[in-house]
Amino acid sequence: MGTNAIRVIGDPVLRVKATEVTEITENLARLTQEMLSTMYSAPGIGLAATQVGVQKRLFVYDWGSGPGVLINPEIKDADGEWTFEEGCLSIPGLSWELLRPKQIHIVGVDLDGKEVSFEADELEARLFQHEMDHLDGVLLVDHLDEDQKREANKTLMGIGDSTVSPLPIVGESLGFSQSD
Ligand code: NI
Repeated sequence: MGTNAIRVIGDPVLRVKATEVTEITENLARLTQEMLSTMYSAPGIGLAATQVGVQKRLFVYDWGSGPGVLINPEIKDADGEWTFEEGCLSIPGLSWELLRPKQIHIVGVDLDGKEVSFEADELEARLFQHEMDHLDGVLLVDHLDEDQKREANKTLMGIGDSTVSPLPIVGESLGFSQSD
């Protein structure tokens, strides 16, 4: 089973809003198998198609209850609050404490084209919200508060990836020069 390269922050493909899947083809099924092996070897518990450069609304996951594929997912309801240290395979080595809804109701379609619906809580709910973000071109760093952004900027610039744009900090100039 092949694996795909995981795109990392700075790659513009991570910022594109993915489009609905209109047909579940053999190619699509094969892609999800590859994504699962990519996810397991990373290792991670979730991987969105956008993270392997495919602009389709689907993600794979395994938060401890076996592999799953969710196509055209949609969050129908969210409730509660939960703080959890969240990381992302596209932002290697970094993680931040984030507050998000604790429970969500998410619907979508599985590989057989069957409608599925989950009432997810805590880790499962967090994972789904994180992957949903990827499908909309949103990254973990977009949720950081000002202090977390300042720290993140130091680290992201420190790894010498010149393609990483500094994260905008509201109402404050950044402490390093922005080359363009
Ligand atoms: Ni991620």
